[in-house]
Amino acid sequence: MVLLEVEGLKTYFKTQEGTLKAVDNISFDLDRGQAMGLAGESGCGKTTAALSIMKLLPANGFIAGGSINFMGQDMSKVTGDKLRAIRWRDISIIFQGAMNALNPVKRVGDQIVEPILLHEKVDEEVAIKRVKELFELVGINPNRIREYPHEFSGGMRQRVMIAMALACRPKLVICDEPTTALDVMIQAQILTLLKNLQQELELAMIIISHDLSVLAETCDLLSIMYAGKIVERSSAVEVFANPQHPYTKGLIAAFPNIKGDRKMPASIAGNPPNLIRAPKGCRFAERCYMKQDICIEQEPPLIEVLPGHFAACHFVKPKGV
Ligand SMILES: Nc1ncnc2c1ncn2[C@@H]1O[C@H](COP(=O)(O)OP(=O)(O)OP(=O)(O)O)[C@@H](O)[C@H]1O
Ligand SMILES: [Mg+2]
Repeated sequence: MVLLEVEGLKTYFKTQEGTLKAVDNISFDLDRGQAMGLAGESGCGKTTAALSIMKLLPANGFIAGGSINFMGQDMSKVTGDKLRAIRWRDISIIFQGAMNALNPVKRVGDQIVEPILLHEKVDEEVAIKRVKELFELVGINPNRIREYPHEFSGGMRQRVMIAMALACRPKLVICDEPTTALDVMIQAQILTLLKNLQQELELAMIIISHDLSVLAETCDLLSIMYAGKIVERSSAVEVFANPQHPYTKGLIAAFPNIKGDRKMPASIAGNPPNLIRAPKGCRFAERCYMKQDICIEQEPPLIEVLPGHFAACHFVKPKGV
């Protein structure tokens, strides 16, 4: 059953130099209990896409087109109390660098009790019991709810943030770079935890990362973003096994622990285009080893290459051709 439908989403920022098209016509669906990875290098619009879904854009950001439908509701029409109720209760987000956002002078347990009391008509005793269960779920001793953030390690604080995101039993959790600030061992633990929670609680998740290896093990679906656009999307298995877009191939080749076409350079030279003056053709053209005149002149459409596998490149062939 479809939980989230994003159709033609455009999110722009007003800046002194002009309009910056951070997210420029992206579409994807997410079913109940499904995990989608959103990958792409820094500045490609991953966080902006997440904030658009939550309607948490900064003041100079605005939705310039498209639609976001969550559980049958048109999010553009949801405002005020109804919107506040959807955040936390139905959708929650673990922000980039969230573990440093815990209030240092408040006990960690209290910081999770608060949203529960705010969003649900339960008494404090019930909320505290829930927090203890959540601690257990994310692998922290429930007796530690009265401690302060500085008494926790980075990995523990990230677990606290995950517990907080789950506090009101949402249907969708957006994790923005959930493991970036952590060392490799702790990263693996947090990813396993997210995967287990997803299955146990039938949670849908959007996991944002520039690190494909983070997404390989946790996600059912994978969308690759480049300069504000989704250039490829399919099941995660399919994207890794059969990447179509030259950018995806480059990203996969850059991670030696993932099987891929090793003939590509290990990193993609150059930088993404300025999103205030984005090129009219393929945005990846300047860095692409396959570049031809058509790439500079025309934007490639996102076409279905294989059932459920989409890619936006002039040189991929539509399904059945
Ligand atoms: N408040 C803002 N005002 C103007 N431009 C912004 C604002 N926030 C983001 N941008 C721009 O929008 C684009 C997308 O930014 P975004 O933060 O979504 O990228 P990202 O993919 O999450 O990158 P990262 O991996 O570094 O977190 C970038 O060009 C960024 O500079
Ligand atoms: Mg980001």
